[in-house]
Amino acid sequence: MKDFNYYAPTEVVFGEQSEEQVARLVKKYGGTKVLVHYGGQSAVRSGLLDKVCRLLEKDNIAYITLGGVVPNPRLSLAKQGIELCRRESVDFILAVGGGSVIDSAKCIAYGVCFKGDVWDIYLGKAKPSTMLPVASVLTIPAAGSEMSEASVITNEDGDVKLGYSNDMSRPKFAIMNPCRTFTLPPYQTAAGVTDMMMHTMERYFTKDDDMDLTTDIAEATLRRMKTAIFAVLKNPEDYRNRAQIMWGGSVMHNGLTGCGVSDDWATHQLEHELSGMFDVTHGAGLAAIWPSWARYVMHENLSRFVRFAVNVMDVPNDFTDPEGTALKGIEAMERFYHAIGMPINIKELIGRDITDEEIKEMARKCSRNYTHTCGCLKVLHAEDMENIYQMAKG
Ligand code: NZQ
Ligand code: ZN
Repeated sequence: MKDFNYYAPTEVVFGEQSEEQVARLVKKYGGTKVLVHYGGQSAVRSGLLDKVCRLLEKDNIAYITLGGVVPNPRLSLAKQGIELCRRESVDFILAVGGGSVIDSAKCIAYGVCFKGDVWDIYLGKAKPSTMLPVASVLTIPAAGSEMSEASVITNEDGDVKLGYSNDMSRPKFAIMNPCRTFTLPPYQTAAGVTDMMMHTMERYFTKDDDMDLTTDIAEATLRRMKTAIFAVLKNPEDYRNRAQIMWGGSVMHNGLTGCGVSDDWATHQLEHELSGMFDVTHGAGLAAIWPSWARYVMHENLSRFVRFAVNVMDVPNDFTDPEGTALKGIEAMERFYHAIGMPINIKELIGRDITDEEIKEMARKCSRNYTHTCGCLKVLHAEDMENIYQMAKG
């Protein structure tokens, strides 16, 4: 069992009308001049953005706004945000949106306090020593950025998507009102659930599998998401199940399902090249990669894949054939992905055959020019990455 630190400092304010508390919370965490950061249209259309701004005004909190964050958030907009915040002496960043908006907010928050090029932080060339506080009013459960230490940014120059993790970027508070997720289209809802389940699966498929309580929690959250997604696809205004999913997105990525175990993250690393190159939805990209990754690595800890098949995917345990049971679990996951409208290979994801050159390019980028490996259950070199992309071609 691995020793661990569990650090989840974000104050979660959960429930109907929870956004009413936004001004109080901004004040509590020291904000006096706020950048309200948001995405395309959804927060404008729903009236949430307007409501948040009115509540800040009512409490005499100065703010400016910057919208336009797109999924797979771009470095160029974050750089605009950094300039804007410096000019306007902003001291607090409030993201109104999902993972992309929160990640862009974190990037801005680093950049405002950093003398060099903020991209160097994501390249691993520089380490920030401080940043502005960030918080969120969450509108889509998926990335878990509302409690996580990570942010993922795409540099349009070369379509490179990189993540950076630092505990100081864990948001001060997260306001979560499940009603705000009623407007999510089915595809975004399903991609979000796929992503949050993967955040726990990245920690579940490990060689340190002796922290039983963590395994129990992981399996319970995975099973709960499997049920809740069908309920909300059927009835988008099912508050009870929207709430399970919204809270699931946070607990499945705030470290709880990783206590005492090593984490893998290879599926995420492999996916980041797909969303960097093809600008696809992150959760859908994960569904396109995971089955191939699983088949490639399952012998590293076959009993774990058997356990997943039986306890999460409800596959009967054939004690005479552990490999067969493990494979049935992977196939059951593929059926689940299809049932919620997710792809199970790259062809289904991008709508055409991927070329061998594109695969080589993704393996090159994922291995940072053949200098890095990824994964922990099985350490993947560039050649393994290429093999998995080939298996996932479809
Ligand atoms: O831009 P708008 O109009 O707001 O539309 C968004 C966007 O198109 C829409 N949306 C959000 N809330 C809505 C809504 N539509 C209707 N009703 C609502 N209530 O949903 C679309 C997707 O939003 P986005 O923020 O991109 O989704 P998500 O939360 O999945 O974030 C994805 C990003 O997070 C990164 C991913 O790589 C990707 O770039 N990740 C961040 C992580 C982290 N910081 O810890 C971990 C993850 O593994 C992930 O890599
Ligand atoms: Zn993810």
